[in-house]
Parts: sequence; structure tokens; C-alpha cells
Amino acid sequence: MLEKIESLMHTFVNEVDPLATELYAKVPKGKRLRAKLVMKIAPEAQENIKLAAIIELIHAASLLHDDVIDEAVTRRGIASLNATHGSKTAVMLGDILYSKAFSELSDFSPFIAKTVSDAVSKLSAGELLDVAYSEALQLDEAKYFDMIYKKTAVLIEATASSAAALAGKDTKAFGLYGKNLGLAFQIIDDVLDIVSDEATLGKPALADFKEGKTTLPYIYLYQSLSEQDRKRLISLYRKALEEDEANWLKEKMAESGAVEKSVSYARTLGYEALDAIAHEKNDDLEKVITDMIEREY
Ligand code: FPP
Ligand code: MG
Repeated sequence: MLEKIESLMHTFVNEVDPLATELYAKVPKGKRLRAKLVMKIAPEAQENIKLAAIIELIHAASLLHDDVIDEAVTRRGIASLNATHGSKTAVMLGDILYSKAFSELSDFSPFIAKTVSDAVSKLSAGELLDVAYSEALQLDEAKYFDMIYKKTAVLIEATASSAAALAGKDTKAFGLYGKNLGLAFQIIDDVLDIVSDEATLGKPALADFKEGKTTLPYIYLYQSLSEQDRKRLISLYRKALEEDEANWLKEKMAESGAVEKSVSYARTLGYEALDAIAHEKNDDLEKVITDMIEREY
């Protein structure tokens, strides 16, 4: 079914313009998490494949724009489209992908069309917050959660509730599952930036803080530090770290238990996701969560 989704995405792009197809071929495919979620919630049918293709096109568009905004030179371990073809091209390909996605979305029920459209508005607001919060250290937990909800969880929530609507299932329960999955996924992503190495990440480690992103482990770390160490942490914000500075940061992270506390919060969200769909008896969806929360970080 994933091949059918890939092929439909290709067809959609080609229907707009062959030049767009050429550029689209250079965009790495990614894990297709959202398409897989549709497949696990709704049985195979042409409209489910179409919904999955639409959502993946929107996600791809958002990443093309995000790489321009973040001035990222790599995406998934290879040069980003803005790096190889310039920001103008990357923005315009993003525009093509998401406007075509919306055109196809208009074939769906008002509930699905509105759920997905509203999610993209929030996604864009989330990116605005992400940029605003990257200007200065942002140590407010509530603001962090609001931002990751909008930037990451909202599209996964909309994917799950729209797929449930197509399958005639409980849209609220699946939406809640998707929301908690998205939040937990983003927290784990933020943790991996700290505990993984460059080879595993496909991008430099400890990149978030340097890019101005104060993620949950940094918020917890700050809360646990002495005044003196807080000053040192602040001095490292948005800085290319020397080896001794990176080591200090990792040491303090380890001492404070900030990573464990973040993982533990992600696990709590994972359990809430499992609770939301407990009555559905969907082993595949349960496994998505247990794979994430039962491994070591
Ligand atoms: C990645 O965040 C960014 C997102 C998940 C959302 C980006 C959203 C927009 C640009 C809004 C516009 C939407 C459309 C449909 C055009 P990140 O920078 O923290 O993660 P990364 O490491 O993957 O770059
Ligand atoms: Mg980015």
C-alpha cells in the first residue's frame, strides 16, 4: 500500500507540472509515518490511499519551507533542496505540493477537509512560535508544549482522526492517540539530539541548542542548575560548542537526570495514547507506541 501512496503522490505532483516532478524526485522520502498511520487505522481503499498521499505531500511541503526558514543545508543526511537549488525553488516546490494537496482534499467530507486544513493553520502558527522562541532562551514548559503540539502533534492528530472518520471509527479517540503520539515523538526527537551521535542522527549532535531551540531536556536541566551553572548554560546558548563545553553540557545533563525526566514524560504521553485506543484492540497502533516507549535512550 505504501508503494501505491508513493505513486499517487508522484502522479499528483506530475499533474501540476513536469518541472515540479523533476524537483520532487530530489526530495528524500522519509519514514512516511503519517501514511503508515492512515494504513493502520483505515483498511486499504482508494480514498484512504488518497488521504495518506495528501497528508504526506503537506508534510513534505512543510519540511521544504522549514529548511528554508532554518537555513538547513541537510535533510535526512543529504543536501537539502534549498542548499542544492536555492531557497526560491524550495519555497515554490513547497507551495506546489501543499496547494495540490488542498485541491485533492476538497474531494473529501467537510469534517476531513476542515480537520486537515485547520491542522495546517496550526502547523504554520507552530512554526511561527518556533522561530519566535529561537530568538532567546525560552524556558517556559507550557510554551514549549504548546509549540510542539502545533508544530508536530497537530498534523498527526488530524491524520489519525481523519483516517478514523474514513473507517467509520471513533474520531475523538484516534485523534487523542495521534496527539499524544505526536507529542511523545517530538520529545523523543529532542532527546535524541542530545544522546545520539552525528552518524545516527544524519545531522550534527547537540544542534538544537545551537540553533536556538530550547527543548524539554534543556528546560528541565535549567530548573535543576545552580545560579552559576545557569549562567554557564545561558552563555552556551546559540553557540558552536568547543569540545570541553559540549562535555560540560553532557555531564550536567547526566547529573541532572533531565533526559530521563523528558523520556519519562514522553512515556506518560505514550500510555495516554494507549489508553485512548484501548477499546479498539489495534495491535499495530499499540506497537507504534510500545516500540517508542519501551526502548532505552
Ligand atoms: C520541523 O521542525 C518543522 C515542522 C514539523 C513544521 C514546519 C511547518 C511549516 C514550515 C508551516 C508551513 C506549512 C506548509 C504546509 C507549507 P524542526 O525544524 O524542529 O525539525 P527538523 O530538525 O526536522 O528540521
Ligand atoms: Mg528544521
